[in-house]
Amino acid sequence: QYPPAVKLVDVGPRDGLQNEKEPVPASVKVELVHRLQDAGLKEIEVTSFVSPKWVPQMADNAEVMAGIRRKPGVRYSVLTPNMKGFEAAVASKPDEIVVFGAASEAFSQKNINCSIAESIERFAPVVEAARAKGIYVRGAISVAVGCPYQGEVAPEGVELVARLMKEIGVQHVGVADTIGVGTPRKVQAAMEAALEHYALDDVSGHFHDTYGQALPNTLACPEMGVWQYDASIAGLGGCPYAKGATGNVATEDVVFMLHGMGIETGIDLDKLVDAGKYISDFPGRKPNSRVATAMLNK
Ligand code: HMG
Ligand code: MG
Repeated sequence: QYPPAVKLVDVGPRDGLQNEKEPVPASVKVELVHRLQDAGLKEIEVTSFVSPKWVPQMADNAEVMAGIRRKPGVRYSVLTPNMKGFEAAVASKPDEIVVFGAASEAFSQKNINCSIAESIERFAPVVEAARAKGIYVRGAISVAVGCPYQGEVAPEGVELVARLMKEIGVQHVGVADTIGVGTPRKVQAAMEAALEHYALDDVSGHFHDTYGQALPNTLACPEMGVWQYDASIAGLGGCPYAKGATGNVATEDVVFMLHGMGIETGIDLDKLVDAGKYISDFPGRKPNSRVATAMLNK
């Protein structure tokens, strides 16, 4: 049974743009957020409060957050890997923060420079401080089916991180196929592992499209009743610590599929395609979305 409605979080401004080599001006990022909320997105992952040495593109985090004209009913989330990032983020008044761990030790080391156990120790005070301020806490579980350094990842890896996140008070977990190697049954198994510790209302899917599987993987999860997904406008992005990985499933493609199935998203596809064209025109590219390509060529 498919859920009647799905909530999409557009992670394009963060996951999408973090990988751009050329600096994207803060004003362009702000305009993208405005276009996404005008298209009907109810949650936007705006930026990350990480080390600018690690991810230079996100160094303008505070400027971008300050530039956004907030729309009632829209939630704005940011990544915060540690207390330093959280303290910097608080001034920007995010509705939600994201701590990001990994289901493999190797990816944890490459991405956030610590082991899985150390990452949980770093997240714990962040979660506590956020919840004390009424800020919702989401956790991302990277490399949930495959790791660029360790290869295949078993569902037990996801189960462990979900359990540890639950223990420190993380309210929601996103199961992330960072390098896009998952196929529907594998992502369902990873999702089931997360569901051992989290309710159906408290999990989401985050699928990169490297092998062209992100759309089938996204469809595999509503079959389980999961109704929250991350997607990236124009299919932007990749992870700087996962070489060769492409962007998330394109928001346009997910919306077209869901609407075609009679599943509501609250998103206006025409406006969404325009938003994708805007951000793709900036570096002079074409949107990495089949739906956007088809609609722009009509
Ligand atoms: P570290 O070097 O271990 O940190 O990095 P440290 O505590 O030893 O500090 C070293 C320096 O960084 C110090 O500065 C700190 O002040 C500074 P220095 O004294 O050398 O001048 N620093 C910071 N600066 C700004 N903001 C901060 C911060 N923390 C320390 N928050 C750290 C650890 C986590 C900071 C680093 O590894 C990092 O920034 N990693 C970011 C990695 C990242 O952003 N990856 C991409 C996002 S995750 C992703 O894309 C996956 C996801 O989409 C799901 C999926 O697809 O899998 C979510
Ligand atoms: Mg990602």
